[in-house]
Amino acid sequence: ELSPIDKAKFVAAKRAAEMVEDGMRVGLGTGSTAAWLVRCLGEMVSRDGLKITAVPTSSRTAALARDVGINVVSLDEAKWLDMTIDGADEFDADLNLIKGGGGAHLQEKIVATASDQMVVIADASKSVERLGAFPLPVEVLPFGWQSSQALIEETLVSMDVMGRTTTLRMNGDAPFVTDEGNYILDLHLKRIGNARQLALVLNQIPGVIENGLFIDICDTVVIGYGDGRVEVRD
Ligand code: A5P
Repeated sequence: ELSPIDKAKFVAAKRAAEMVEDGMRVGLGTGSTAAWLVRCLGEMVSRDGLKITAVPTSSRTAALARDVGINVVSLDEAKWLDMTIDGADEFDADLNLIKGGGGAHLQEKIVATASDQMVVIADASKSVERLGAFPLPVEVLPFGWQSSQALIEETLVSMDVMGRTTTLRMNGDAPFVTDEGNYILDLHLKRIGNARQLALVLNQIPGVIENGLFIDICDTVVIGYGDGRVEVRD
């Protein structure tokens, strides 16, 4: 028996998996909700003979996908994807997102923007009126990361945000390191006024590699509820 939160993630993932058709090239997201999707697709491959080619967005997802028998290729081999299905940390009414809670938003953004469609799967708790309660992840180069952090904090002063604290994401006593060998700064903004502008401005700062704001990238959100209901927004 699944807990209500796992049930919500599972039913959203299952509905999105049903959108995948034979022969598609599919981007696979990262996180606990995306893991349900990968398991669903794995079952459809082994049980129903579904034929897909998949591009994972992290080493974790790549390992799980191979485990469940999905044909995994690199993005450069696939070149272009029909659909990417991924989780999110927050989504708003315009289907703009905060991602990167799992530290994979760099690959996730590259894969999503190389896809005809991005479908987000999420439990209803990820729905927000305004983005920003969830700390915004920003991937930075380890070289001179503290200078990048200082520039980010300076930049935030002129932006329409409520909080300005930034913290280096840790993994025990050492900095958390992404699949690309970089660090993550989490920006505790509480509320973001102009997410579109913030996304552009952050990526101008030397050392910043990618921020977790996904603006005009997501086409559809599949929302799961603890009682098994599913709602599709696009
Ligand atoms: C990974 O980097 C994130 O973008 C995930 O999509 C996000 O953290 C969602 O994860 P859960 O499905 O585990 O909440």
